[in-house]
Amino acid sequence: MKVLGINAIYHDPAAALVVDGRVVAAAEEERFSRRKHGKRPLPWSAWELPELSAAWCLAEAGIHPEELDAVAYSFDPALMGTPEESGLNDPGDVMRKMYAEKAPEFLAHALPGLDPAKVRFVKHHVAHAASAGLAAPTADNSVLVLDGRGEAHSHLAGRYVDGQLEILAGQALPHSLGLLYEDLTDHLGFLRSSDEFKVMAMASYGKPRFLGELSELVVATEDGGFRTPEIDFSEYAPRLTKGDDWTEDHADLAASVQQRVEEVLLDLARWLHAQTGDRTLTLAGGVALNCVANTRIFAETPFEDVWVQPAAGDSGTALGSALHVARVLGEQTEPMPGADLGRGWTDDEIEQWLRVAAIDYERPRDVADAVAEVLAANGIVAWFQGRSEYGPRALGRRSLLAHPGHEANLERMNNVKGREQFRPVAPMVLAERAPEIFSRGPIPSRYMLFVHDVAPEWRERIPTVTHVDGTARIQTVDRTEEPLVARMLECFERRTGLPIVVNTSLNTAGRPMVDDPRDALECFGSAPVDLLAIGPFVVRRPRSTLG
Ligand SMILES: [Fe+2]
Repeated sequence: MKVLGINAIYHDPAAALVVDGRVVAAAEEERFSRRKHGKRPLPWSAWELPELSAAWCLAEAGIHPEELDAVAYSFDPALMGTPEESGLNDPGDVMRKMYAEKAPEFLAHALPGLDPAKVRFVKHHVAHAASAGLAAPTADNSVLVLDGRGEAHSHLAGRYVDGQLEILAGQALPHSLGLLYEDLTDHLGFLRSSDEFKVMAMASYGKPRFLGELSELVVATEDGGFRTPEIDFSEYAPRLTKGDDWTEDHADLAASVQQRVEEVLLDLARWLHAQTGDRTLTLAGGVALNCVANTRIFAETPFEDVWVQPAAGDSGTALGSALHVARVLGEQTEPMPGADLGRGWTDDEIEQWLRVAAIDYERPRDVADAVAEVLAANGIVAWFQGRSEYGPRALGRRSLLAHPGHEANLERMNNVKGREQFRPVAPMVLAERAPEIFSRGPIPSRYMLFVHDVAPEWRERIPTVTHVDGTARIQTVDRTEEPLVARMLECFERRTGLPIVVNTSLNTAGRPMVDDPRDALECFGSAPVDLLAIGPFVVRRPRSTLG
């Protein structure tokens, strides 16, 4: 059984392919089109399809569109009311609904040979739920979808038993924790539905001074839902436009909203646990990328285990809708094998790219050790290995690496990427060494979706990755899952005594993550990076940035 999943309507268009119950490919459109987030989530772009990623998924598996058993589209226009019914009063919704209704024909046009009757609409939050509950390694679990919006809801609470979803609660619009956070992002001069993580970073610089007032406005309800009335943020701190300097008031507002959202999420998770008594909670939806909140859910609710879909935003609904429809068609599905579901190249193909670029390259005896040597000398390394990641995090496939022991490297990395200086960078750490250095969040933490406390005696040793509040957003590296990354970490530890390197995504500001070898060469060519490690090859910068 072959099911193609499509996310198109709002954010982060993406495609995923499930064959015989197994996820074989998944990718975001931005990695192909080279436009960050693929498109803006505007009503008049709702028709745009992830044509390039969908075509690649099929080509990767050697499948023609006419061979597909179904195409799962992660939005159901029949469930969408009028702008007045949703309470959002967004006239653009009329256009979104119309474009979604036409999606089968658009898809048949984009994928010649596809029968439009094979397209099935999947409720947006069921697609998110499946991306967590069916993709997680633990089969039976509770699931929370924490989102901006779907057809008529912003959240879903439920439970998977034997691959079947039972929906226990759903908060109707206009109440939405995701939209509340987006409104704040906009108020602080950042890009709505794109830069929310910057607000989370800013929050750690502030004090939750406005928490008392917000606690009366934003509240969980006894039926597993919540209320988010419209808030005039300018009562707390004046509106900023792009590039304005922020003040203590802005950081305090960010801290207050962040903390209130965390508290409401804790209430939602506790309510769900009271219904199910399950051991494992799975999370998806854009709000589930809030790693500070995720750690509190892990540390402060009765769930023993929390698993978050690495593509928790809308891109993950491509994978979720495909898994859901495979189940509806009677297929047993398997958990996702990892986040490395995108494009990859053979060594020969990579070497061909290097020859075409006519640059000097070497094939060291061990690329992991060659990289560790440059990192130990405080060089910056562009790391391009294996299949690219599905979701917004670099997890050791398309990464920019550095030494974590030099405080100046935070500024240096942010300069390489051309981004704000308050943005933290994160550590990757050998899984077996993590417990002695990091606490509070879950270990292992494979997908970098939680924050951990850095042990006081380690903070001075790894200042680059220790955030202002003493935390770090770690990725643990398991030797069996990521042998090459693990070896690089071991080689680095042998040279420096630190089982940790700085890991941030391989891209420059405003651009999608590097995906193919050409992107890697272009990024290396324009950014002050000392070494490109691409497959088994390395390319050295003739004039080192280390002077
Ligand atoms: Fe969503």
